[in-house]
Amino acid sequence: MKESTLYIVPPKQIHLAILMDGNGRWAESRGLPRSAGHRAGVEAVRRIVRAAPSFGIDALTLFAFSSSNWQRDPQEVGALFGLLEKFFFSEAATAAQHDVRISAIGRRDRLPSTMLAAIESAESATAGNTGLDLRIAVDYSGREAILRTACWMVSSTEVTQREFSRRLAEVTHTPEDLPSRDVDLLIRTGGEQRLSDFLLWECAYAELYFTERMWPDFTAADLELAIRDFRGRDRRFGAVPASVASVSAS
Ligand code: FPP
Repeated sequence: MKESTLYIVPPKQIHLAILMDGNGRWAESRGLPRSAGHRAGVEAVRRIVRAAPSFGIDALTLFAFSSSNWQRDPQEVGALFGLLEKFFFSEAATAAQHDVRISAIGRRDRLPSTMLAAIESAESATAGNTGLDLRIAVDYSGREAILRTACWMVSSTEVTQREFSRRLAEVTHTPEDLPSRDVDLLIRTGGEQRLSDFLLWECAYAELYFTERMWPDFTAADLELAIRDFRGRDRRFGAVPASVASVSAS
């Protein structure tokens, strides 16, 4: 692919999901507390949110707090929540400038009231923005979302995948007017190669990209590398490539 085409005519808008791993190790390798890694992680979030639209990304889902993360030291959980609350408030204040719509996906019934207030205020302040749909996953579990949707559906005789996706978005509190979106590209930083219960249904045909880079070090240049790699992939969704199809038809 020619370099210039990457920015000028993106073939299709991308839903990018990121597992922002490596904050703790980044901090520990510098003799800092883990919370310093999360703080540096917020800076990386800001960099990537600003850069995303120039790479053809119109939806960005970030895994900020997994339902499994409740098992962490309450001090670390408290520090993370503090950073998240601040982020929701400060991003909402500048979101109009960057045309970013902010929402949270996941459970809301276990969140502290201050976090809920921060989420609701960011969602209502940015509801009219259309440039980038930024979804922050907080107290999110893909498996639990599927299970809750399945329970809801138990009395239905026939359920289409589209209807299931719609209900799944509902149980994770995705705003009603935002369509449920399949993930196109999933990036995981920090060197591990697993999904860790993130967007299991939505990632059915996602391209996966793993990098050793720790999240606080992740830059727009790293994102560009990942997008370049993604653009070079042959996404067939289970079909055969067009070239093979035309040969076998003749
Ligand atoms: C995983 O790294 C990362 C998290 C559990 C939290 C991610 C949160 C942020 C980047 C900051 C806040 C987010 C937003 C959207 C403002 P880890 O701590 O498990 O790292 P480790 O594997 O090195 O221990």
